[in-house]
Amino acid sequence: MPFPATRMRRLRGTATFRSLVRETELSPDHLIMPAFVIAGEGIREEIPSMPGVERHSISNLVEHAGEVAAAGIGTMLLFGIPSTKDEYGTGAYDDEGIVQMAVRALKEAHPDLTVITDVCLCEYTSHGHCGIPDADGRIQNDLSVELIAKTAISHADAGADAVAPSDMMDGRIGAIRFQLDEEGHADVPIIAYSAKYASAFYGPFRDAAESTPEFGDRRGYQMDPSNGAEAVREAELDLEEGADMLMVKPATPYMDVIRRVKDATGAPVAAYHVSGEYSALKAAALNGWLDERQAVLETLTGIRRAGADAIITYYAKEAAGWLQ
Ligand code: PBG
Repeated sequence: MPFPATRMRRLRGTATFRSLVRETELSPDHLIMPAFVIAGEGIREEIPSMPGVERHSISNLVEHAGEVAAAGIGTMLLFGIPSTKDEYGTGAYDDEGIVQMAVRALKEAHPDLTVITDVCLCEYTSHGHCGIPDADGRIQNDLSVELIAKTAISHADAGADAVAPSDMMDGRIGAIRFQLDEEGHADVPIIAYSAKYASAFYGPFRDAAESTPEFGDRRGYQMDPSNGAEAVREAELDLEEGADMLMVKPATPYMDVIRRVKDATGAPVAAYHVSGEYSALKAAALNGWLDERQAVLETLTGIRRAGADAIITYYAKEAAGWLQ
């Protein structure tokens, strides 16, 4: 029925009507808070390019996790910054490594908190790549997969509730699934960074995690920002290999990819609202250029509307406060 019989504004007239017909729900249940754990004692330092986000040594991280949980966030995603790095990233799969120790401490202090670990070598390698380069600087896939799978097992051994491989090597989901099952971790889910793009928006994270590559870039393994169909193929491969949840990363420049992956697979999808997306909003807010609360909740609602079940965001704790 055309105008004037149909007036779309009628159901926008009151808050009650608006909430009756609201399609997308955003609640703290959908949010995952990333955290950086650093070797050392008594450290709680702000990351200059990410105002409001800190690196914590283990005991401070445990305290911080208590605050995150109290705000209503049930899940954290953990990144480690070790004291030393080497060519093979041995700190990543060391049972006494920074993430392994932090997971044990977190699970002991907060048994109800769900702890996901990021599984990658880049924070642990001296060259800063997510895998092991050969003499020509090309990242070797199968050797890297072996070490990445080893890392995932050691995280699960330490008590991680789920592992999230972010390296973009081929075949790593299958290798991790096989070894988790072999080692008695058949119930530990894999959250696969399936469509991880070679993005400028990781800049602040690389400051935080000290993981900027020493030579070259990540375009030999992360995805080309121009590609969408390829993301669907990556997602389907990860599902075949045993992924439980798929991830698209970053989030806002790739909303169409979130939707395509969701529609093509029907699988649970997470979107990572990454460091640069956080810092861009934060900088505008600190300058008084945007209403932070409204801009952040609108962004997160948009990511949910695009098809994300879960959102990993540095705004998780603050957003949970706004949503209560
Ligand atoms: C490591 C990893 C990165 C991020 C998550 N895991 C950085 C990268 O690939 O350089 C980025 C997260 C963010 O920017 O918030 N493989």
